[in-house]
Amino acid sequence: MCGIVGYTGNKSAKDVLIEGLKKLEYRGYDSAGVALEDNGKLEICKAAGSVGDLEKTLNGKFNTAGLGLGHTRWATHGRPTDENAHPHYSASREIVVVHNGIIENHQALRDRLSIEGGYEFRSETDTEVLAHLIEEYYRGDLFEALRRALLDVEGSYALVAASSREPEKLVCARKDSPLIIGYGDGENLIASDIPALLTHTRKTCILEDGELAVLTADRVVVYNRQGDILEKDTLEIDWDLEAAEKGGYDHFMLKEIMEQPVAVRETLRQRISAGEGKVSLSELEFSVDELKRVEKIFIVACGTAYHAGLVGKAVIEKLVGIPVEVEVASEFRYREPLLEQNHLVIVISQSGETADTLAGLRLARSRGLNVMAITNVVGSTVSREADHVLYTWAGPEIAVASTKAYLTQLIALYLFAIYLGESRGVLPVEEAMGLVKGLQSLPGKLNSVLNEENVARLKTYCDHLAKWESAFFVGRNLDSPVAMEGSLKLKEISYIHAEACAAGELKHGPLALIVDGIPVIALVTQEAVLDKALSNIQEINARGGEVFAIAQEGFDDVQNQVDSVFYLPPVHNLLTPVLSVVPTQLIAYYAALARGSAVDKPRNLAKSVTVE
Ligand code: F6R
Repeated sequence: MCGIVGYTGNKSAKDVLIEGLKKLEYRGYDSAGVALEDNGKLEICKAAGSVGDLEKTLNGKFNTAGLGLGHTRWATHGRPTDENAHPHYSASREIVVVHNGIIENHQALRDRLSIEGGYEFRSETDTEVLAHLIEEYYRGDLFEALRRALLDVEGSYALVAASSREPEKLVCARKDSPLIIGYGDGENLIASDIPALLTHTRKTCILEDGELAVLTADRVVVYNRQGDILEKDTLEIDWDLEAAEKGGYDHFMLKEIMEQPVAVRETLRQRISAGEGKVSLSELEFSVDELKRVEKIFIVACGTAYHAGLVGKAVIEKLVGIPVEVEVASEFRYREPLLEQNHLVIVISQSGETADTLAGLRLARSRGLNVMAITNVVGSTVSREADHVLYTWAGPEIAVASTKAYLTQLIALYLFAIYLGESRGVLPVEEAMGLVKGLQSLPGKLNSVLNEENVARLKTYCDHLAKWESAFFVGRNLDSPVAMEGSLKLKEISYIHAEACAAGELKHGPLALIVDGIPVIALVTQEAVLDKALSNIQEINARGGEVFAIAQEGFDDVQNQVDSVFYLPPVHNLLTPVLSVVPTQLIAYYAALARGSAVDKPRNLAKSVTVE
């Protein structure tokens, strides 16, 4: 995710862009840049760092420019460096481009442009390819050049381009990444999201996939891919600025929960081939020999990332047949773990900056081990220090309570498990195909879990749950780590004391705490232990506990045993945590809301824990 703003009109384009980019920093904040039209030239100013830093660099410069485009970056292809920051110039420096999305065939285009066209690349980004490609097709009409260039492009994009030869014009295109036009009076704007437009206009138009637009100060024309002019409806925005930054949601956490289908799709993108049942993770740069030599895996992480690791352990052990230990990073670093040369250490960290996880990584490397990182932040310390990096493409996560990052960590672990199993020749093709198809079906299934009716049901349940000071989460097998994650989320944002318990353990102690009416959330998705899970539910019923089950569709017996049941769409047995955790996130969210807690910034907690 990145933020884009474009402006043409009678105000200072620089001021409009900087103000707009600040509103979009929630979409990415590792580098920022602008291109401004200045005396017939397009001048770029960009650097790694925040929009605030960029503003300081621009102080006193380009005050009279009336056209420009800007970008705040969340690195995907290429590290967060000055060179990789947007905008990007074409070879002649006459065309500039900003882009949000991923150009999937960028390598092929890069090869073609450099071999056939002699283009030299200045950055590692996929976006620079677009600048050169548009230039290659440029014959005096920027819109036509963009339209033609996009015929060669595969992937997702929201992009804005300008040419110094047509300095009154911005051209834009959208596929799978948002772009919104803002209609002003003697000025027009384009941005990735509404907050960047609101100071200037409330009259907007959402570009749809496959649409392009040309903006001048007094006119906006929208086209389809064939170049035909389209009639577009305008959308009057009545949100206030704060609501707009959260995409109309009350909290970032809810927004991020709702973004999960897209985050999962992005994390799977270009890594699976459903037809062949193959996973390709060449970005990890492991040799097959290295993968074959691994005798044992340690997964090291904290909090929610640790819970993802617990699911990873079950999946890797099942698919690959090698032992996996999951370690809380703050324990791992001080307990002198028995590490040997053929062990692989996987650290998981959304931020890539968590001090304990980083210390675990350094400990493993100091013993000469290969470390692989699963992280969401390109250029983070963990990503720089690990030997191999597998990125989750969740986009920036703002709410302290992790949701979409957790889900994409699970996806990364599934991908790695399948990849490892295939590379070692131990995963039968049929099984891999079933899993890969299952992975591919997840975004659609997540959308159905998140439908309005389901959300309303969970909200109603939480009105009841919120009255309690204590609650339980139980589950067996793969449901057990999900119970742990559900309980962590509930306690951290609603402040209800929540305990997670492997359901079979209830009778060894926690059952003593089950009293009349106490809320128990039971996860029931594992067919192999369905009978056992049902008998655990009976143990709870017998002590008066009130059970809300989250169960796999088709487990019809569950509804006869519990007070309420939330059914999940059927999915491959190993993939259930991806769906079952979602209702627990919404339960935490609505319970916190009912109790008036600061959902996005819970007390005593920070998003990134960079101290021990
Ligand atoms: C809980 C949560 C934390 C983090 C933990 C690790 O919702 O977000 O438990 O998972 O602090 O953070 P990262 O993944 O950034 O290392």
